[in-house]
Amino acid sequence: MPEVYPPTTSGQSAPQPGVSMLKVKVKILRFNPETDKKAHWETYEVEAQPGDRMLDVIHQVKWFIDPSLALRRSCMHGICGSDAMLIQGRNRLACKTLVRDVVKKSGDTVTVEPIRGLKVEKDLVVDMEPFFDSYKAIMPYFINESPAPATERIQSEEQAERMAHSSNCILCACCTTSCPIFWVNGSYIGPASIVQAHRFIFDSRDQATHQRLNIMNQNTGVWRCRTAYNCTEACPRDIPITQLIEEVKRAVMYQQA
Ligand code: SF4
Ligand code: F3S
Ligand code: FES
Repeated sequence: MPEVYPPTTSGQSAPQPGVSMLKVKVKILRFNPETDKKAHWETYEVEAQPGDRMLDVIHQVKWFIDPSLALRRSCMHGICGSDAMLIQGRNRLACKTLVRDVVKKSGDTVTVEPIRGLKVEKDLVVDMEPFFDSYKAIMPYFINESPAPATERIQSEEQAERMAHSSNCILCACCTTSCPIFWVNGSYIGPASIVQAHRFIFDSRDQATHQRLNIMNQNTGVWRCRTAYNCTEACPRDIPITQLIEEVKRAVMYQQA
């Protein structure tokens, strides 16, 4: 049985043999709409091991230094997509970012900010409604009017492969909120919604391809993308987003030809 190292009452992981603790200065962009006119930085000093997650570090701040810190998180394992934030200037999931990814030596400072382009509700919590409105606009559900078969609707391996990347999306918003086009024009449907549209457009069993391609062809749709690649670099699921966007663009053009 592997040895387990539970959190201590300070919130720090119990030290593992031979692993030295690092002092980490966590600089968090704070905003309380009830008391602040604008956001300001607060720095907290904690100790962590290189293999700890940044979410553990932020929990140390919330649980043992300042309980008023607001953040979202749920699964703690890179599945729910709720803890997207800007860590050391890059969109990441706090639960998938290790201290050693962003701290090189004891005493280093790590910046933590809310994701950009969405209204900040409090501290690291943003209003996700516009993001999910764009998601709903692409009709993110299976549409097939033909009678259901006695067993499942069969796909070949090649057909399943077409939607393998896009079906990995966990709707964390790291991509859309790192896109410079989205920052300047929030009506752009954004890379996350295009990835979701791709998942159904290239699903051989779905029958609403034409409708979804028309949505992608609107002036808020896929043509807004200027191939900036920020989205691909930000995706915690390693989805080749820019490539998928290009595939959707080609599908729109092919439909129009
Ligand atoms: Fe997150 Fe990647 Fe999905 Fe964008 S495509 S929402 S970055 S998982
Ligand atoms: Fe934006 Fe990604 Fe396109 S960052 S411009 S959606 S390639
Ligand atoms: Fe669920 Fe990080 S807490 S993805």
